[in-house]
Amino acid sequence: MRVLSGIQPTGRFHWGNYFGAIKQYIDLQDNEQAFYFIADLHALTTIRDAERLRQNTQEAAIDLLALGLDPKQATLFRQSDVPEVTSLTWILMTITQMSLLEKCHAYKDKKTKGIAADAGLFTYPVLMAADILLYDSDLVPVGQDQIQHVEVTRDLAQRFNTLFGETLTLPESRVLDTSAKVPGIDGEKMSKSYKNVIEIFETPKKQRKKVMSIKTDSATLEDPKDPENCAVFALYKLFADETQQAELAQRYRAGGMGYGDAKQAVHEAALEYFGEARERREQLADDTDTLNDILAEGARQAREKGKEVLDRVQKACGLGSNH
Ligand code: TYM
Repeated sequence: MRVLSGIQPTGRFHWGNYFGAIKQYIDLQDNEQAFYFIADLHALTTIRDAERLRQNTQEAAIDLLALGLDPKQATLFRQSDVPEVTSLTWILMTITQMSLLEKCHAYKDKKTKGIAADAGLFTYPVLMAADILLYDSDLVPVGQDQIQHVEVTRDLAQRFNTLFGETLTLPESRVLDTSAKVPGIDGEKMSKSYKNVIEIFETPKKQRKKVMSIKTDSATLEDPKDPENCAVFALYKLFADETQQAELAQRYRAGGMGYGDAKQAVHEAALEYFGEARERREQLADDTDTLNDILAEGARQAREKGKEVLDRVQKACGLGSNH
């Protein structure tokens, strides 16, 4: 079984990225053949600064390793190191209905906001389909917001197979019920574009300030509170075990506890949860040679598989001189 997922290096990773996706990458790496990549081609639709993109990509790789991604078990690579993916994107583009892409939310959201979309943003889901299909991926661990894109991928694979014969593997998404849509400090989905994120590795002081600013209702200290309708509690659940969750839920319901206390509990739980990763990150940050070796080896492995599938695709549709 091949597991594959990608993550954009558009900024430092946040709690939503971790609990929705990265945690799954790590949980799955022991038992399955895992391919994980940093989606720098996708990030190019928003970052137009070479140095920043390079820097972000490197930071992203360091963060993933610090969080527990093990390059001995999983293949970690840069999306742009496998140029075969852009060839497959073009091929898929020729069988992609405009109406399919018009329904996709990244494009639709920008359009409703009146922001001009370029062709890169519009065709973004086709590149994502190529990312998945190029490696015969079976399972794609993601957060809820990417399910639609995996569905598009399945549609395109099916269409290709109908037109040219069985060639591409149909993938399935894997989403965790408990963290499919992690809320941000305003209670909406945590997302860089909503500016409501809590980054995994920001300084404890900054992180505390953000946690303290999480939006809550106007219940007074004495009022009983509803844990199931509270972003602070939703975040606490990510870090705490069941006993701890039950304890805090009880304090919510009893009244007499202010939201400040619950926020402090989230802050402390997060520091503890990511404590080791913070330490690992510091060591990794100084060792760029090792990091470059890991990414080079990852690219080699991914390319080997990518070439095999692209070759199969080209053969099926009559392209290239190898057949
Ligand atoms: P990206 O970079 O926006 O997000 C990376 C992963 O984090 C998940 N995520 C969340 N999960 C739960 N709650 C949240 N608040 C939250 N915010 C983000 C996302 O669902 C995602 O799994 N298009 C992709 C990158 C990509 C990709 C791929 C993914 C490119 N090619 C191929 C899988 C397979 C993206 O922009 O994710």
